[in-house]
Amino acid sequence: MEDQELKEIYENAMKDIEKIDSLDSLNEVKNDYLSKKSRFMGLMAKMKELTIEGKKAFGEAINRAKNDITTKIEEKRILLEQKQLEKKLKEEEIDFTLPAVNYEIGGKNPFFIIQDEMIDIFLGMGYEIAEGPEVELDHFNFELLNIPKDHPARDMQDTFYIDENTLMRTHTSPVQARVMQEKKGKPIKIICPGKVYRRDDDDATHSHQFGQIEGLVVDKNITLSNLKATLELFIKKMYGEKREIRLRSSYFPFTEPSVEVDVSCDCGGKENCSKCKGTGWIEILGGGMVHPNVLKMSGYDPNEYQGFAFGVGIERVAMLRYGIDDIRRFYQNDVRFLSQFKRK
Ligand code: PHE
Repeated sequence: MEDQELKEIYENAMKDIEKIDSLDSLNEVKNDYLSKKSRFMGLMAKMKELTIEGKKAFGEAINRAKNDITTKIEEKRILLEQKQLEKKLKEEEIDFTLPAVNYEIGGKNPFFIIQDEMIDIFLGMGYEIAEGPEVELDHFNFELLNIPKDHPARDMQDTFYIDENTLMRTHTSPVQARVMQEKKGKPIKIICPGKVYRRDDDDATHSHQFGQIEGLVVDKNITLSNLKATLELFIKKMYGEKREIRLRSSYFPFTEPSVEVDVSCDCGGKENCSKCKGTGWIEILGGGMVHPNVLKMSGYDPNEYQGFAFGVGIERVAMLRYGIDDIRRFYQNDVRFLSQFKRK
């Protein structure tokens, strides 16, 4: 059937849809033509005047028109969505020719560069890494190291006390006793890198917190020459083949004999050298043969087992290696200092 009004609505719908250029207006038009209050509603009044066949034919014509409009709208929707996606992709297009954003990546603190290097050297000699707590018992920090209460050697290692028996460890040496007790009479070959604390006035060469690496070897037939050879190898790996070491006798309550170890200065002993003050030697660490009392207290028979131990200050090694003049630079996080150690 041909109804003029239906024809008009249909043709207007087709024209309207054709003109649409956004999804929002597409929805408006859909509402206009296909919702319950659409323009087709006006045609319903006409229905009443028709015969049954007429109603059927008219109804079918309206439905066909609505179906056509729905199809047209959905086709248009797909088209518009595609256009919208294309526009978005264009907007978000990446220009690979633009210069890259430059992210600054920080470098390792020279303290850790050197600590890693030291650890690597000792791992290469077959040492294992041991650990111990920074908050330590007096028992391990002093007593088991042959430093009983009221021993004068305690004065040189005053520290921060948590309570009467608990303190911030003054050196990594308590790990010696801890490992000996753990290994229960078996041979030992460990290093222990870690932080230590002392009540010190902070200046160019002292800090209330610093790093040490402890070394401990316990076995049968260990002598001072094993200690000397070990440290010689360490120094040559750290500072170069030309360096020599020198052992001076010293005193630690937990080693006997005890030594202070010097490394030869690269200036060759020039009078005005700031590193060695013209002596040709720079003190680098302390060590010695583990005191029989220390072995005994942690379960080793000193007649059967001997041992050597040493303690190296990490900052000290780094300062000498890089020519750093002030220990405080390690802790200040000054990028002007740190960036000098950045590696690509
Ligand atoms: N613990 C000593 C110190 O901090 C160094 C040391 C370690 C000496 C091991 C002898 C043996 O001064």
